[in-house]
Amino acid sequence: MSENFIRFQKVTKDYGTVRVVEDLDLDIARGEFVSLLGPSGSGKTTLLMMLAGFETVSAGAIVLDGQKINDLPTYKRDMGVVFQNYALFPHMSIAKNVAFPLDMRGTARAETAERVQKALDMVQLGHLADRLPGQLSGGQQQRVALARALVFEPRVVLMDEPLGALDKQLREQMQLDIRDLHHRLGLTIIFVTHDQDEALTMSDRIAVFNHGQIQQCASPREVYDHPANRFVAEFIGETNLLEGTVSAISGETLTLTLPGGASFQSHGLPGFSTGDKGLLSLRPERIDIYPQGEAPAGVNTLAGEVTDTVYQGDHLRVVIETAAGRIIARINRKVSEWENGAKVSLGFRAQDGWVIAP
Ligand SMILES: Nc1ncnc2c1ncn2[C@@H]1O[C@H](COP(=O)(O)OP(=O)(O)OP(=O)(O)O)[C@@H](O)[C@H]1O
Ligand SMILES: [Mg+2]
Repeated sequence: MSENFIRFQKVTKDYGTVRVVEDLDLDIARGEFVSLLGPSGSGKTTLLMMLAGFETVSAGAIVLDGQKINDLPTYKRDMGVVFQNYALFPHMSIAKNVAFPLDMRGTARAETAERVQKALDMVQLGHLADRLPGQLSGGQQQRVALARALVFEPRVVLMDEPLGALDKQLREQMQLDIRDLHHRLGLTIIFVTHDQDEALTMSDRIAVFNHGQIQQCASPREVYDHPANRFVAEFIGETNLLEGTVSAISGETLTLTLPGGASFQSHGLPGFSTGDKGLLSLRPERIDIYPQGEAPAGVNTLAGEVTDTVYQGDHLRVVIETAAGRIIARINRKVSEWENGAKVSLGFRAQDGWVIAP
């Protein structure tokens, strides 16, 4: 019963006349780490609140391990929650905070003490059990919140931007800690984040939200390399978009002809027919830059002129004006550097492009 541990079936949420989650289907397997990523107001928190039981479902069903839970009270859902605004109790010691979910469940005193110690050790805070939350750093407090969410060994852990308030270094440390806990304890985690790098690093799958609907739910690699539509292509990472017409199809390779006459071979979504409009999504780091006319045979090429070069530490961001419009490339400084005004040829392989519907 590992598949479909959690199922959202045509789930809709209305606040008055405003629909904030619409007909949403999502299946999550036991032990999976799924991130919800999307613009502000797209319904991520609302979905988590419905799953946790803090919000009602307007239509559709939420199923947990084969049981419909729409009307199940929160405390019977057995979920650990770490919400950004779900603060620690300031007047209680760290140990008392972590014990809270066990006290609520009437767990025996000796067992509580043992479990609290174990949960605090897990987040490496066992030595601070007697302090008050105010005597801890922000990152330590987040770890206590994590221990509190895990102490009763929930089936599912829901996290809503749990690392949002932390600085970059601590955030990256906590990302690793959470990943590690996920693997060690086999937890099923649903994790809301604004940060696409965080989603790409941590998740088994990413559900990309927009306007209360999932645009695509797939592995980080799939979402990045093979976006399902324009929204996903533009929302995750940076991309160049070139619009044209599909002029030939051979196996998984499409030929896209641009209005100016240039044509490119590229992989793309299935389902295109010759004559369809197509939009080529080309990631900046998949483009190579050569002196004009010197691109190797067998790659797509496009002539242009370098108009700007931005130093970004580990790479250079190069802006190139071409007949097909402005193209952004990211290049490795070890390989080449380009002056403004340089006449260049851009090159990319068919498998590095991705054609979607305009
Ligand atoms: N209690 C409420 N009453 C009315 N509208 C609400 C309520 N809670 C949320 N909304 C609206 O529902 C929509 C989705 O909100 P939600 O909090 O789920 O978005 P989100 O994706 O979590 O955004 P963010 O990334 O900013 O946290 C928003 O337009 C929001 O204004
Ligand atoms: Mg939110």
